[in-house]
Amino acid sequence: MYKCATILAAGEGKRMKSETPKVLHKVCGKEMVNHVIDIMRKAEMEEVNVIVGRGAEKVKAATEIKNVSYSLQDKQLGTGHAVMCASDFLKGKKGIVAIFTGDAPLIKEETVKNLLKFHEEGSFKATILTSVIENPGAYGRVIRNENNEVEKIVEAKDCNSEEAAVKEINAGMYCFDIESLLLSLSKLTNNNAQGEYYLTDVIGILKSEGAKVGAMVTEFEETIGVNSRVELAAVEKILRQRINKKHMENGVTIIDPDTTYIGSDVEIGQDTIIYPGNVIEGKTVIKENCMLYPNSRITDSTIESGVHIQSSVILESHIGENTTVGPYAYIRPESTIGKNARIGDFVEIKKSSIGDNTKVSHLTYIGDAEVGSACNFGCGTVVVNYDGKKKHKTIIGDNVFIGCNTNLVSPVKVNDNAYTAAGSTITEEVPEGALAIARERQTNIEGWVEKKGLKK
Ligand code: UD1
Ligand code: CA
Repeated sequence: MYKCATILAAGEGKRMKSETPKVLHKVCGKEMVNHVIDIMRKAEMEEVNVIVGRGAEKVKAATEIKNVSYSLQDKQLGTGHAVMCASDFLKGKKGIVAIFTGDAPLIKEETVKNLLKFHEEGSFKATILTSVIENPGAYGRVIRNENNEVEKIVEAKDCNSEEAAVKEINAGMYCFDIESLLLSLSKLTNNNAQGEYYLTDVIGILKSEGAKVGAMVTEFEETIGVNSRVELAAVEKILRQRINKKHMENGVTIIDPDTTYIGSDVEIGQDTIIYPGNVIEGKTVIKENCMLYPNSRITDSTIESGVHIQSSVILESHIGENTTVGPYAYIRPESTIGKNARIGDFVEIKKSSIGDNTKVSHLTYIGDAEVGSACNFGCGTVVVNYDGKKKHKTIIGDNVFIGCNTNLVSPVKVNDNAYTAAGSTITEEVPEGALAIARERQTNIEGWVEKKGLKK
């Protein structure tokens, strides 16, 4: 059967107190709405539609790569009204629409799949996902009849005292037969405590018309919606624990899962060991047998196997096998570091490639450079890549030895097997196998201290 999803993402999100639309706040490095979109895709929805309103342009921009369609809800007149705004997307379709909210990112793929299965096998016109909790608070209550069938959903603000005491809540996640949903939406009114068109009223309408309505109970944790920054942090913590657990089950050692922050799309190979204080973000891939000593931030990078990293920042870069990085290295976007290389303490690499076996051990800046293999950079080397107006390129061959405190004024080339003398400012090409010395010769003035009367 045809299956599609519609995600509610048009709401105000007032309690977030933010310029950013609520659904774009991130949980484990990914926007909440993108978590929900990804889960819908994994649950094999053929099409995903996002209902946007508040901050529509921003929401569209942030979800652009996900290949979804959009419906616009100009004014936020309630969840039922939001789905009415998606009627262009739904019209003429036969099958199931799953309706989820963009502010509840903890829902699991398997639960979505189970909900669809439950809905199909029960031949329901509507199926709601519910949960049972001690303090149902602001959630809509699921009211069942004497046969234990779902009768309707009553919003917290519209409950009488008996309804308010019901502990089964509406998760705000549903499956509908598309045609039945569209028919019922046209019958909604806003005659309630909030003057809104409630999607939840569709359940009562369908039931009163004799349609079969189902409910599937799940763990409360999965249904938590984020309405405030406090809830955002609570959801982040739960997702972080799930992510860390998944990696540990895959054979990664995480010494302290409470202080290890791994984004939801990160991949990590077996027998990698992660010390506390690491933040691993975006599309990062870390291969097998790596050691991540404390306190690094690694974003959108690939780290090959056997790499050791300590207290460093690595952004959008590639680190080759068995290389060591840090402590206190800064590897900036579009850098490629070879195998068995060493990027040591207080080294900054910007948009450069560094060959295999090359050592840049300390206190060095390399920007816009192509460096060959088996080179050695002395302490305090600076690639002078910027002339105040433009950035220029530096090319260093293989087996080059750069003496301590060398300036490489770009554009400049140092050919294979060449050396530069310590303290040199290199402005011209250094031929293969040459030693370049570019500094004042030393002069010793004999007896100078005594002559000046400074001898002690
Ligand atoms: C809703 C349900 C409630 C359920 C709860 C679960 C209704 C009427 N109530 O209440 O039964 O227990 O979710 O979390 O549906 N939105 C729009 N346009 C609007 C209004 C809301 O797109 O006009 C979106 C919001 O961005 C949000 C979602 O719909 O993603 C839920 O809206 P929210 O106002 O948070 O509904 P609740 O009051 O939490
Ligand atoms: Ca909500």
